[in-house]
Amino acid sequence: MRKLRAGVLGLGIGRRHAAGYATTSLADLVAVCDADSERLDRAKAAYPSIQIYHEYAEMLSEAHLDVVSVCTPDHMHVDHSIAALEAGLHVLCEKPLADSVEGAARIVEAARRSSRMVMVGHDRRFVPSLRTVKAMCDSGELGTVFYVEANSLQNKLGQFSAAPWYFTRQALLGTGAHCVDLMRWIGGEVLEAFAYSNHLTFPEFPRDDNIVVLYRLASGCIGKVTMAYGAIRPPRGCPTELMVYGSKGSVEDDRVYVPATNASKSWQPLKPRFPDQESHSAEIQHFCECLLEGRRPLTDAVEGARTVAACVAGIESAATGRPVVPVRFED
Ligand SMILES: NC(=O)c1ccc[n+]([C@@H]2O[C@H](COP(=O)([O-])OP(=O)(O)OC[C@H]3O[C@@H](n4cnc5c(N)ncnc54)[C@H](O)[C@@H]3O)[C@@H](O)[C@H]2O)c1
Repeated sequence: MRKLRAGVLGLGIGRRHAAGYATTSLADLVAVCDADSERLDRAKAAYPSIQIYHEYAEMLSEAHLDVVSVCTPDHMHVDHSIAALEAGLHVLCEKPLADSVEGAARIVEAARRSSRMVMVGHDRRFVPSLRTVKAMCDSGELGTVFYVEANSLQNKLGQFSAAPWYFTRQALLGTGAHCVDLMRWIGGEVLEAFAYSNHLTFPEFPRDDNIVVLYRLASGCIGKVTMAYGAIRPPRGCPTELMVYGSKGSVEDDRVYVPATNASKSWQPLKPRFPDQESHSAEIQHFCECLLEGRRPLTDAVEGARTVAACVAGIESAATGRPVVPVRFED
């Protein structure tokens, strides 16, 4: 079977994408691009056979790629993804798909025009424990899910100071997209958002650093997302916490309670039922399989755009004090 020729643009989190392409049997990592020479040199040292580029347009026209990971800052995703699609490549775009609903719509349209596939890097859907929770919901083990909550309360000062573009983003769309995507994955489509936000703990961040959003979902379930950038908490493995409450049982982060299958009257540890695989590598394996088998990826451009629209609705609600209906994206 022919292997996919893969490239990576942007070598921050993009290093994990490079490692994913380098280790899957379905692709070869053939090129990387970054404006930063030190990052390029480090990639060349790790993967001596790759071609390195400072200019994205050159990589697109010279490296004969099938697929590229777009791992540049959030506000660049639209231009970089559309350039790759117009060059005939498939695109794995880091989350969020875009920093606006209009940008997300432009990528959806460009993907349709080019007949190339886009996947959005919502890697939390590939974290073994979170996949396990989704499988429990799909099998009915938790019964009817009536409430799902996804939270990410972190302290981002160190990370943001190292890459100042992070100060230009919105908390809910930048990092909170992980939470909103997980909530949608478990609870279903968003009908309406209502939010409050404040700015009390992270003065260096130029806008509200904490937002709490309630979502009314089409399934009847209620969703809630909290995204904070100035929280004081010990470090944890996956920074996104997921709570799911159903008519037969509940999951709270890494513990589960399902009385019908577990006689104990207490929480039990959630034992992931999926192989222990780094989430970006698992996401890349999935996308390569989809490309080679002509299948739709789990988080295609429309899925990514729906998450952007749900985030933007939350942000708009916090700003206006009114409930907001997100822009709809049809399949
Ligand atoms: N899925 C996750 O868990 C996760 C984690 C971190 C970041 N991200 C996302 O990944 C993206 C990148 O974040 P990061 O933390 O790696 O940022 P970063 O600033 O560390 O890295 C971005 C890289 O892109 C390069 N770059 C920017 N514009 C370029 C251009 N025109 N040509 C060539 N190179 C260019 C920069 O030199 C830099 O090395 C963001 O969208 C972010 O939201 C996702």
